[in-house]
Formats: sequence, structure tokens, C-alpha cells
Amino acid sequence: MAKFQAPRGTRDLLPADMAVWQRLEDLGAKLAATYGYQPIETPLFEDTEVFERGIGEVTDIVEKELFRIKSPGSDEERWALRPEPTAGICRAYVEHGMHTLPQPVKLTSWGPMFRYDRPQAGRYRQFWQFDVEAIGDAGPAIDAEVIELALRFVREAGVENVELHLNSIGDAACRPGYIAALVDYMSGHAAELPELEQRRLAANPLRLLDTKDAQTLAILEGAPTMDAHLCPACRDHFDSLLAHLASLGIEPRRAPRLVRGLDYYTRTAFELYQRGAQGQQSALGGGGRYDGLIEQLGGPSTPAVGWAAGIERIMLAMGEEAGSTARDAFLAAADDDQRQRALTLAIELRHAGLSAEVDLAGRGLKGQLKHANRIGARHVLILEADGSLQMRDMESGEQHQVAPGEVLDELSS
Ligand code: HAM
Repeated sequence: MAKFQAPRGTRDLLPADMAVWQRLEDLGAKLAATYGYQPIETPLFEDTEVFERGIGEVTDIVEKELFRIKSPGSDEERWALRPEPTAGICRAYVEHGMHTLPQPVKLTSWGPMFRYDRPQAGRYRQFWQFDVEAIGDAGPAIDAEVIELALRFVREAGVENVELHLNSIGDAACRPGYIAALVDYMSGHAAELPELEQRRLAANPLRLLDTKDAQTLAILEGAPTMDAHLCPACRDHFDSLLAHLASLGIEPRRAPRLVRGLDYYTRTAFELYQRGAQGQQSALGGGGRYDGLIEQLGGPSTPAVGWAAGIERIMLAMGEEAGSTARDAFLAAADDDQRQRALTLAIELRHAGLSAEVDLAGRGLKGQLKHANRIGARHVLILEADGSLQMRDMESGEQHQVAPGEVLDELSS
């Protein structure tokens, strides 16, 4: 075993992974641009308070999973690596006075996130998200638009049987009433709850809805639902969102216990799953509305909605083989006289945008052909000693002579 390994919960993205990876990044960028989103990059670390205030102090992400950083010479953990991008993007929105821009401000980003969680399949300590945020529109039409984009990204990535789980978790007007009703009901069963759930009941009762414990789930069967407690404004918003989704041909699965692990959500909350796959590690993406977050971070009251997809999870669900790093052509020289010609031809092909490799290690012709095969070249061009050119299709094995002026056309066809 190598003396050093990548830290637990992280992984190296090797060239074979990068082909698929790059395809997903390009797909995200292309889709986001067609929906009017502009790229933004924020720092990988922020003032810890941005996350504490934004995501909520009594959430697993902030309580247990933040990578906190001490500044040199100080004991204060002033910064933390970002566990998600939304809080940082909203901090930037406020800092740069983006409320004066035409609203909504539509932003997108792609990058690594950090959560100190117990690693397992599909759960990493450093993982990538493709994220979109539409800030400054109260919806509900834009909620439908961002959900449609989320579904499209995951489906076009190559994941089949994608399901949308949707809920409304109310707002500051109706959620407190619901929480009170939930606490009232669950308190009657407190003695039957395991310790973790008892703590949740005291600190953040909505998290109870997210339980994995069978006994708690059974008790929740009889619990009041958020749906029955939505205030008229939240009810209208949710009904209208459902109507917008229906007009887009999207049929959500209603998920009355979906609450999400971040405190900033209001009203719309959703997650994407592959049908049949369940549990926290299998959400391919998730998001929702966060109408209070910008104000929480010191900005003007501003409604917003967004989501993020987990790239590693999508790659797992795609079930795609490691991507190909194939070159378009490998140029093999039959003898030393032809090596210089091979190099010149390779440069020509590269100028035309094709990937071409040439032997620089002085291998014999047989060795060059073997190497071309190993690196997955689609075609080999053999520069024969008499100056003629043979083109071999490495998949079919077919070989024929080509005139120098036809190489580009043949390779591009
Ligand atoms: P989230 O649900 O915490 O939401 O994360 C979004 C997605 O990131 C998850 O659905 C999952 O695919 C992936 N993910 C989360 N944790 C891990 C992990 N430890 N390892 C691998 N993948 C993971 C957010 O982060 C919100 N900021 C989304 C959002 C944007 N809401 C509004 N705007």
C-alpha cells in the first residue's frame, strides 16, 4: 500500500474520471446559460458566522460537519470551509449590492464543498456541486422553472427514472404554529423516542420528520402535517407551483415529511431521487426557496430560490463506465526518417482541433502500434518509409492508404 493516501472521504479525480466529469460541467454551464444564469465564484472559505446564521446553528451541517479553520496565531475559528455555496453567494449578493441590478439575479456555480461527515458510498467529505440560484423573485413560476432545470440537468446527465419529491414547509407566519402542533403531539410520545430524537424534539423539532428510526417513524404516522397548517399565502403559492409544474408536464411526488437539512428554507422544498433509491445518501440534488436568507445576512428582504446537484451522486447513478480519454489519432513512424514528418503532421492536426499524439520515445514500429492501442487512439496513421500514409481504424482493424491532403477530412468524418 502506498505510504500516503488521499484523506478519508476525499478522492482523486483521475484522467479516466475527468472525461465524464468535464461533460457534466459543460452540460451544467450550457444549460444554465440557456436559462439566463451567469457564473459566479465565491471563496472556498467564509466567515464561520455566514454559515452559522445562514444554514442555522442547530443543524448537523453547522454543529457537526463544518471544517472550522483557525487563523495562524489565533485560537478563534473565524473561518470555515464552505459546506454548500448558497450562503456564500448570498453574502456576495449583499456585499456587492446586487439588489440594485435587474431582478432576479440568476447565478450559477460549480465547485467543491466540504462536510466532515462519516464517509460512505455517495457521501464524501469533499464533494462537488453544480448550483443555481435565482435571487429576487418571489415565485411561484420561477420555482417551477428552477425545478424543471434541475430535472433536465440530472436527466441529460444520463440518469434514468428521476423522481421529484416536493413539499411546502411554510413560512414565518405558519411554520411556528405547525412546529407547536408537532411538538405537542411528539411530547406525548417523548418517552418512546430514542435519545437522538428526544434531543431533536428539544432543539430542532422539524428534524424529527427526517428520522431514520423505525419507532419514531411509526409515531410520526399520526403526527400533524405541515400541509394542514399552511397559511393562505403559502397554500396559494404551493397550489400555484403545482399548477405550473403540471403545465410543464412535471408530476412531483408529494413528500409531506421532506424538510431538508438547512434552516434557511421557506415554502418550496424539493429533492431529486432515482426511483427505487431512498435515504439521505441517495438524493441526487435538492433545493428550495429561501426568502429570509439575504435579510439574515444583513441585506434587504429578498425572496430567492435555488438548488444544487451532487456530482459524485450523479456519476454513481449514471452507472457509466470510466470515461474515454481516447485520442483521435496516433502517428506512427516506420523509420527514423519519418519521425520529423510525423511530428509536423501531428502539429497540423492539433491546429485543426484534433487530438494527436506522436511517439517521442524512439519506439520501433511494433512498439508504437502497441502503445497507440494502449492509449486508446481511434486511428493510427503510419508514415511508411516510402513516404506513403496508411490509416488504420483501431476499432475495426480496417487499413487503407490516404493522400496527405485527405487526412483531415478522413479523421473528421
Ligand atoms: P444539500 O441537499 O445539502 O443542499 O446538497 C445538495 C446535494 O449535494 C445533495 O442532494 C447531494 O446530491 C449532494 N451532497 C450533499 N452532501 C454530500 C456529501 N457529503 N457527499 C456527496 N454529495 C453530497 C444544499 O447544499 C443547498 N445549498 C442547495 C440549495 C441551493 N438550496 C437552495 N439553493
